[in-house]
Amino acid sequence: MPVERIETPALVVDLDALDQNLRTMAAAAAEAGVALRPHAKAHKCPQIARFQLGHGATGVCCQKVGEAEVFVDAGIVDVLITNEIVDPAKVDRLAQLARRARIATCVDDRAQVALLAEAARHHGVQLDVLVEIDVGHGRCGVPPGASAVGLAQLIEETSSLRFAGLQAYQGAAQHLRLEDERRRAIDLAADRVRLTTSLLAESGLACPLVSGGGTGTFMFEAASSEFTEIQPGSYVFMDAAYARNEWAEERQPFAHALLVHATVISTSVRGRAVLDAGYKALAVDSGYPTVVGLESAAVAGMSDEHTLIGQDADRPLRVGDRVRLVPGHIDPTVNLHDWYVGVRDGTVEVVWPIAARGPGL
Ligand SMILES: Cc1ncc(COP(=O)(O)O)c(C=O)c1O
Repeated sequence: MPVERIETPALVVDLDALDQNLRTMAAAAAEAGVALRPHAKAHKCPQIARFQLGHGATGVCCQKVGEAEVFVDAGIVDVLITNEIVDPAKVDRLAQLARRARIATCVDDRAQVALLAEAARHHGVQLDVLVEIDVGHGRCGVPPGASAVGLAQLIEETSSLRFAGLQAYQGAAQHLRLEDERRRAIDLAADRVRLTTSLLAESGLACPLVSGGGTGTFMFEAASSEFTEIQPGSYVFMDAAYARNEWAEERQPFAHALLVHATVISTSVRGRAVLDAGYKALAVDSGYPTVVGLESAAVAGMSDEHTLIGQDADRPLRVGDRVRLVPGHIDPTVNLHDWYVGVRDGTVEVVWPIAARGPGL
């Protein structure tokens, strides 16, 4: 079926661009000598996770137990939940998953350790547990240093758990616009990791894994020699917010592989074209989408089911025209849709369900 016949609004993947992004990240990780464990919360789709595994990924990250269940059900056997899980029912499900896959998760509190230990004992499994340290994000994580070592010791002393390493994600650095600012933020994060790993070593605790990094900073974690693994997510599709980052020329690596296709449904108001896609098809927490082929400020406003575009006098849009939008923020945009329509050379090649979509139970 030709692309023009896809009913809109639709979440459309450019399969060649996706492939290129996967290759670029795999090559960067391999060159730096770090493991690549992409964050699957960006795409929530087992088919895409399998491509990532085929391009050098050692496993995937998830943020929620419900996501991890979808990926394990699809045959992915190595999942790191980069989050703290505290609802006893969810901890129980997580321990059950460890019967079918290698499951690791994060803690920043002794209470989480106790919950995980009990559930793992109950299900007769051993869970890998990472201590999350706050390397500047200010979200989850104990302070670097002694508190992290205390938690690691507690995990090691618990027979149903194994201390697997450190989670050290610096989310606040990802969208610092200047590359130098991002580099400095990750230098600081790496110092915090180093402080913690040297204290762990002094306490006789091995720290096999240090995981962190996102699309905005992965190259700095990878080069730091403190991180053994990177966990970027958005690079698969590359959104408009990340495109606003300043990248050194040789590192502007990712193509916009995910577009929302929309149709002009009205041009009645002078100077405006109205599209059939609004907040229910595009997340705007990181700004309006950009319009392929039009200047970046083309979107004049949005509402639930509509996007208003300022008309270009030289090339006015007409009713029925197709418009392609680059989402401002990948993850919450994907979460609004049921499936991806994968296209190559102007033809629909595949439809993939977004199997792990939803709030993430
Ligand atoms: C813990 C964690 N790791 C990795 C990522 C991936 O970041 P990005 O999608 O910006 O590459 C995120 C994103 O929010 C995250 O929360």
